[in-house]
Amino acid sequence: MAIAPYIIAISGKGGVGKTTFTALMVKSIIADYHKKVLVIDADPAANLALLLGIQAPISIGQIIDQTKKEVEKKSDFYDGSALLEYRLWEDALLEDPRFHFLMMGHTAGRGCYCQINEVLTYILENIKSYYDLILLDMDAGLEHLSRNTKRILDLMLILTDPSFMGFQTVQRIIELSQELQIPIRKFQLIGNMFSDFKSKDALKSLSEQLDIELLGIIPLDTILVQINLQGTSLLDIELNFPAYQEIKQIIWKILREI
Ligand SMILES: Nc1ncnc2c1ncn2[C@@H]1O[C@H](COP(=O)(O)OP(=O)(O)OP(=O)(O)O)[C@@H](O)[C@H]1O
Ligand SMILES: [Mg+2]
Repeated sequence: MAIAPYIIAISGKGGVGKTTFTALMVKSIIADYHKKVLVIDADPAANLALLLGIQAPISIGQIIDQTKKEVEKKSDFYDGSALLEYRLWEDALLEDPRFHFLMMGHTAGRGCYCQINEVLTYILENIKSYYDLILLDMDAGLEHLSRNTKRILDLMLILTDPSFMGFQTVQRIIELSQELQIPIRKFQLIGNMFSDFKSKDALKSLSEQLDIELLGIIPLDTILVQINLQGTSLLDIELNFPAYQEIKQIIWKILREI
């Protein structure tokens, strides 16, 4: 029987470091584990490709728009879904030797993510044995996770920085996923950009209060700030900077469970 991939979603308030964490998670998996990974940029304001040092492929939103336009010109009997599926794997999927990558993006129409959600639901439900891991870089609104996802997300990692809003968003994300009835097996908490003991203690209290395991606390890292200024891909950095060391520990804790 085919073994389904382990699906991990990364969420949290805007700017807490979700995309940076996702890119460094990919870096650690490439360096230390033999896992086949599909990385999905599920944030409509996508910038994960940049941090991974790859050319952003055409997004699923763009493919939906393109296919819709072509189908409109055909007869009423034309089935666009087969064409959409073909383009999804042929055009949208970027196959780098180290990992595979998809970008959700957005459709031209404003406000509605329904069609993209449907495609993501389709991907999560139909990808079976090829990948060991699927990583989803999300936003706090969980826009692309719809209530009709039958496929269970194995792990939702919630990141927060040391701020009241960040902490509040942790709770909000847990509540929202319950409201949307997104099937999530486990939530775990990660602190990012922490520098003092007082805020670390506050995070530990939050984890106890919400009864969600604290996986690790990533320090505010000046090297990461410098790398960010240079706009270099995080995969090409040779340095073993403090934030990456902590992330490696976190990844080890996650992967030993699966
Ligand atoms: N541990 C860290 N130390 C220092 N800077 C960091 C750290 N983690 C992330 N950053 C910086 O914080 C900024 C925001 O990070 P990032 O874009 O990863 O956040 P995000 O949660 O994905 O944001 P968005 O909600 O806009 O998608 C970036 O400039 C990044 O380099
Ligand atoms: Mg981001």
